[in-house]
Amino acid sequence: MVSKDDIKKLIEATDMAALVSPYVKLIKSGSGYKGLCPFHHEDTPSFSVSQEKHLAKCFGCGKGGSPIQFLMDIKHLSYIDAVRELAKINNMDINLAPPSKQEQINQKYYEINKLALDFYERNLWHTVSGEQALKYLNDRGLTNEIIKKFKIGLAPKEPDLLYRFLHESKYLELDMVDCGLVRNNNDRYYDVFTDRIIFPITNESGKVLGFSGRIYQGEKNLPKYLNTAETPAFKKNSILYNLENAIEGITQNNRIVLHEGFMDVIATVRAGINEAVCSMGTALTQNQIKIIKKYTTNVVLCYDSDKAGILATYKAIDLFESQGFNIKILRINGAKDSDEFVSKFGLEKYLTYFNSNQIEALEYIYQSATANLDINNNTEIEGAKKIIFDALKNKGSAVLAEKYLNRLSGFLNISTNALLQDYEFYNKKNPMYPSNQAAGYDNRPPAEPVAKNTSDLLKNKLFELRIFKYATISKEKALEIDSYLEKNQALPAFKEVNRDIWILLINEYYNTHDKFDEEEFVKLLRTRGLFDTYYNNALALEKFVIPYTNEDLKECLKSLVLESRKTQMLDLQNSINKEETPDDLKRELIIRKFKIKENYERLKK
Ligand code: UTP
Ligand code: MN
Repeated sequence: MVSKDDIKKLIEATDMAALVSPYVKLIKSGSGYKGLCPFHHEDTPSFSVSQEKHLAKCFGCGKGGSPIQFLMDIKHLSYIDAVRELAKINNMDINLAPPSKQEQINQKYYEINKLALDFYERNLWHTVSGEQALKYLNDRGLTNEIIKKFKIGLAPKEPDLLYRFLHESKYLELDMVDCGLVRNNNDRYYDVFTDRIIFPITNESGKVLGFSGRIYQGEKNLPKYLNTAETPAFKKNSILYNLENAIEGITQNNRIVLHEGFMDVIATVRAGINEAVCSMGTALTQNQIKIIKKYTTNVVLCYDSDKAGILATYKAIDLFESQGFNIKILRINGAKDSDEFVSKFGLEKYLTYFNSNQIEALEYIYQSATANLDINNNTEIEGAKKIIFDALKNKGSAVLAEKYLNRLSGFLNISTNALLQDYEFYNKKNPMYPSNQAAGYDNRPPAEPVAKNTSDLLKNKLFELRIFKYATISKEKALEIDSYLEKNQALPAFKEVNRDIWILLINEYYNTHDKFDEEEFVKLLRTRGLFDTYYNNALALEKFVIPYTNEDLKECLKSLVLESRKTQMLDLQNSINKEETPDDLKRELIIRKFKIKENYERLKK
């Protein structure tokens, strides 16, 4: 542990005004300084800083105190981390208690990653291929200053330059591999990242956890971004990109801005909004919300404007609401995401748009459900109705229900009365979560998708939709499934529209594409008027936590085959029942039906 003397020296060495000034605008007052408290909202300054006493404290809310306490409060650090941080700021060596075992292990990874990061940065700034990568970044609007701020680097083309560089260090090959930077093949070591622009991923205290690398020369058949594999130090579900730099803005403005991609975070920071973060291409998790909650309970959601972004927003709304957050949503118009908005319309327009277009969750749900809705298309109307009904139900306010149903009635040109009837019927059919009814809206249980077991799913016939999911894994998988279905005469069991989608996917899409790209597929769906069904299917699936495993796929396929047998039997029975069917044919049909029944019973076991 640190000695009392060391702590005393550390505190006394601190320049309080310099420590505080990034967070508070200080005005000279007597022998010290004053300013508006960074911990609570106020109009007259009660935050006071004393150079002599080494204090930075608010006399309104009581937060802050010694420089260590101030750092703990403003950066949400543990005591030890605050001491470490202060020692770093003051350039002092402090003898700290040894960190825990896992910490120690991670420490090694952080160090290796830091070496790698320096290497990638040097490679971007001081090589010929670096010039091309810099040009790519500059062309996307990133100034050199921004590139440095985000510590963006470049992994060289050569297969093992980083490995050879790290080899000179004291670290073992094994550690480089565990770190996700190097892989082993036939007794040789290769770099995991080659020829990619590198975005370092840090944690709240700036430790380098891992990397994400983006292709930048339009390479085909490679994933756009490649991320460090899960390691003890790199756990994607608790990472928020840019959190380290965002903390100051989050604390100052008491809100966080959540995006889908790195480039959107960077665009937003370029526009002067520093509190921007994103998760790494994965759905938001409870872990991430927990981290955010340490700093603020106000969130602005800025997900992509495409279908996936809308669905992700719906999900995020549920998660944040269940944790008591205030949610604002920026609906990007005229561009796919913030980054595209900035390159199309410029930073100033984006900033104005950002500040004046944030809407509430319910309003967002209404707008996105009715946007581009074809009021002559019944499927679309029912889909939108369901989304809006769900949102209203969650709000549990008759006033809001009436307000939005009135609006919907105007939009659809249908009486409010009819909509109200539908709404009431819908509520009866789909009661709220039990505890919700008793406790009211605010005590809603976490809106995690309701986990259902497999038999429930089967009952819901969702196996049909799940099969689609498996078919998007890879072309091989899709063709494998298709030939199985064909062999077992199960294709007719698909509901008609789903069958059309299936045929489109297998016979057209995969004929011209080697990989499933949802955006591309959606384009194709739209040309056939099949998008609604696809969209509604996706919505239906979103409601469940489904363990996508080989076992589950087998279950799904089996269910579809069984379904198909049932249809065959029904058809046969119909023909048998018909008077005009000749007797000898009837006999034959009965035998055929009997065989199918046997097959059905056997399969079902
Ligand atoms: P996007 O495809 O929306 O990326 O994926 P983007 O941020 O707009 O990227 P640019 O503008 O094309 O450069 C959003 C996020 O999903 C993750 C990345 O974290 C990305 O920022 N992602 C995307 C991956 O991990 N792998 C991929 O292949 C694609
Ligand atoms: Mn983008």
